[in-house]
Amino acid sequence: MKALSVTGLMKTFKEKSGDVHALGPVSLDVTQGSFLCVLGPTGCGKTTLLRTIAGLEIPDSGSIELMLGADGRQPVVGYVFQQGALFPWMSIHANVEFPLLARGNIDRITRRLRVGAILEMVGLSDFSSSYPHQLSGGMQQRAALARSLVTQPDILLLDEPFSSLDTRTSQDLQENLRNTWKEAATTVVFVTHSIEEAVYLAGEVVVLGHRPGRIVRRQVINLQDPRSRLSQEFTEYLVSLRRTFEELVEEPE
Ligand SMILES: Nc1ncnc2c1ncn2[C@@H]1O[C@H](COP(=O)(O)OP(=O)(O)OP(=O)(O)O)[C@@H](O)[C@H]1O
Ligand SMILES: [Mg+2]
Repeated sequence: MKALSVTGLMKTFKEKSGDVHALGPVSLDVTQGSFLCVLGPTGCGKTTLLRTIAGLEIPDSGSIELMLGADGRQPVVGYVFQQGALFPWMSIHANVEFPLLARGNIDRITRRLRVGAILEMVGLSDFSSSYPHQLSGGMQQRAALARSLVTQPDILLLDEPFSSLDTRTSQDLQENLRNTWKEAATTVVFVTHSIEEAVYLAGEVVVLGHRPGRIVRRQVINLQDPRSRLSQEFTEYLVSLRRTFEELVEEPE
């Protein structure tokens, strides 16, 4: 079953200095419960694609269809921004609780239980009353992840959430996210420019070429869990995708 269907999506930003054709056309179906990584060079339109799927940008043409939940309700979409975007004046608990409050129909006890459980899951229980500036970069990204998960989204969109972190922290969070995805059975679309991150996380990788981003390759990643970055199969995917990256050439507009 499909969770998300993107058809012929195109986006151009109109600037004083001229039009910037950022994306497309892109067509893409995402299977329910799958983990898709969108991989592409900087500036190729990855964020634009994700923001358009989330309804934060209006496309010039094409369509986006989010499938209804099992009981016919509108799907809940979670979004983790490229830059953390926590509210600096709110505690970590309040930040994570915010999307539940915004929904307006979730009682106080349920909110407290859900926030407590999700903070425990990302290892931040001891920091619930801290403020974002009191946390390390990695902890802030954990909190941003918790905030996106607390609504139990049907579709989770993540925009390079770990790219500003050191390798060790980034790898810890990748493992955490993959485990979370397996438990929560949600559909994930994860944007990155790191081939290694994509191979570690994804069930399938979609590669976009240089701007305007268009799909140049789709690659299923068939690796057992727990995934080892040192395994031969892992390295083979890495090398093969690296080759695709090296073959990308700037397309004249
Ligand atoms: N709001 C905007 N107004 C004008 N141009 C924009 C806007 N957002 C993005 N662009 C342009 O669209 C192109 C694609 O940008 P986008 O942020 O989607 O790339 P990206 O693949 O996410 O890059 P990165 O890997 O650096 O995050 C770029 O040329 C960028 O300058
Ligand atoms: Mg981006």
